[in-house]
Amino acid sequence: MAETEPVITAHNFSFFYGEHCALKQISLEIKRNQLFIVMGPSGSGKTTFLRSLNRLGDLISDTRHEGSLKINGVDVYDPRVDVADLRRRVGMVFALPVALPMSIFNNVAHGPRMQGIRNPKQLEEIVEKALRDAILWDEVKDRLGDHASHLSGGQLQRLSIARVLALEPEIILLDEPTSGLDPISTLKIEELLWELVERYTIVMVTHNPLQGARIDSETAFLLMGELIETGPAYDVFTRPKDKRTEDYVSGKYG
Ligand SMILES: Nc1ncnc2c1ncn2[C@@H]1O[C@H](COP(=O)(O)OP(=O)(O)O)[C@@H](O)[C@H]1O
Ligand SMILES: [Mg+2]
Repeated sequence: MAETEPVITAHNFSFFYGEHCALKQISLEIKRNQLFIVMGPSGSGKTTFLRSLNRLGDLISDTRHEGSLKINGVDVYDPRVDVADLRRRVGMVFALPVALPMSIFNNVAHGPRMQGIRNPKQLEEIVEKALRDAILWDEVKDRLGDHASHLSGGQLQRLSIARVLALEPEIILLDEPTSGLDPISTLKIEELLWELVERYTIVMVTHNPLQGARIDSETAFLLMGELIETGPAYDVFTRPKDKRTEDYVSGKYG
């Protein structure tokens, strides 16, 4: 696949919960090694978009889609797609960090073990690398056996990211990953994302326009299931094309 080819392509993609259309004919492209921000008020379809990318939406009954949503040119809804493999390749980090009720080490080793990796040496290497890449290693290397629930909120969120990294994904989805964090922990996650985007394609949802503004990257504004506009964060914030985007970035939607 050529470097310039988009990794993710949505073309007139719609998603329905029963009769309710939560995404309305979305078309967009996300390039490799891009940090792509999806912003918009609550209920605009941001989570629905992320869940479509790794088909977590399938787990909800009475849902369906229209149009196409492709990763590396293959529709994620193609019946030939191995959904378990898709979810490994397209890892998801949620708003509230969720630690498995086990040690820090086992939290990161759990996924690779489920994939059949049993060799202790190999697991140690995977865990160390994932924790280093998540910029958490130095803080936890002396207490890998501690229960993960002893970590702070910011550390837990980096642990969630380490768990995704341990599976060697291609794309990382983050759904409001800093919404429960203090400003310092938030900055750490943002700095981490800038390091990770050198190697991964990242799609991050935020309902906080300020977060989008701090992070200079491609930005999409969703409103009630409609894609209002996309563009570099700087343009979207300083010279939005659409009045509704302007209202949002200036805080009128609260
Ligand atoms: N599991 C679900 N069942 C039915 N409707 C849902 C479900 N999840 C989300 N929706 C609806 O889809 C719309 C978009 O929701 P969501 O994608 O969660 O928005 P956001 O993440 O931007 O807040 C909302 O109207 C919401 O009520
Ligand atoms: Mg959401």
